[in-house]
Amino acid sequence: MLEIAPSILSADFAKLGENIKTVEQEGVKYLHIDVMDGLFVPSISFGMPIISSIRKITDMVFDVHLMIESPERYIEEFARCGADIITVHAEACKHLDRVVTQIKEAGCKAAVALNPATPLNAVEYVLDMLDMVLIMSVNPGFGGQKYIPYSTEKIKELKKMIENKGISTLIEVDGGVNASNVVEIMEAGVDIAVMGSAVFGGEIKANIEKVYQTIKK
Ligand code: DX5
Ligand code: ZN
Repeated sequence: MLEIAPSILSADFAKLGENIKTVEQEGVKYLHIDVMDGLFVPSISFGMPIISSIRKITDMVFDVHLMIESPERYIEEFARCGADIITVHAEACKHLDRVVTQIKEAGCKAAVALNPATPLNAVEYVLDMLDMVLIMSVNPGFGGQKYIPYSTEKIKELKKMIENKGISTLIEVDGGVNASNVVEIMEAGVDIAVMGSAVFGGEIKANIEKVYQTIKK
C-alpha cells in the first residue's frame, strides 16, 4: 500500500509543531524533510536545529532529503539530529558508494535521489546497498512545481530493475504529486509519495483524507 510523506517545506513554519501533529494524527508514518544549501539547488531551506527540535515532538519516520553538495560532510550530524532515512543526490556525490556506506554506518537507512534528467543507471551498481531510491519528478529546489510526465516511465523502469534483481528497495517519488496523479504514480510502482503543497496548502486534514480516499487507504 502506498505511504505518503508530507514535506514540511510547504508547512507553516510559525506553526510547524502543530502542522506535524496534525499529519501524525491522520496516521501518516513518514515526514519528508528537505534540506537545501543554495548551491546544489538555488534555494536555502533549513538545517540541523529545526530537525533536532521536531525530533522531540514526534516518532514519525524522518525522511531527510539532502539537496546539498558533498553531503558526506554532514551525514553523522544529520543522523545525530534524528534522521531515520538519509537521502543524498547521486549528482552531489563524487564517491556515491562510499557515502551510502557512511549513511549505514551512521545507523540510518540509505537512499539515493536522481534528478529528472539523471538516468537510472547512476544507481544500478549500488542498488542492492540501498533501502530506497528517490525519483525526483520536478527539478529540485522548490515546492509547488508541476509533475514532469516522463517520471512515470522512469518509475516503471526502476521497478523492473528492482524486481529483476529480486531485492526489496523502496521507490519514493518527489515533486508535483497530488490527488489527481497519485493513482498513476502508485500503479507505476511507487511505495512512498512525497507531498508538500498537496498536504500543507490549505486544510491539512481534508487534504490527507482526500488523498487517502483517492488511493482507497
Ligand atoms: C523539491 C522538494 C520537495 C518539495 C515537494 O525540491 O524536494 O520535497 O517539498 O513539494 P510539492 O509536493 O509541492 O511539489
Ligand atoms: Zn524532497
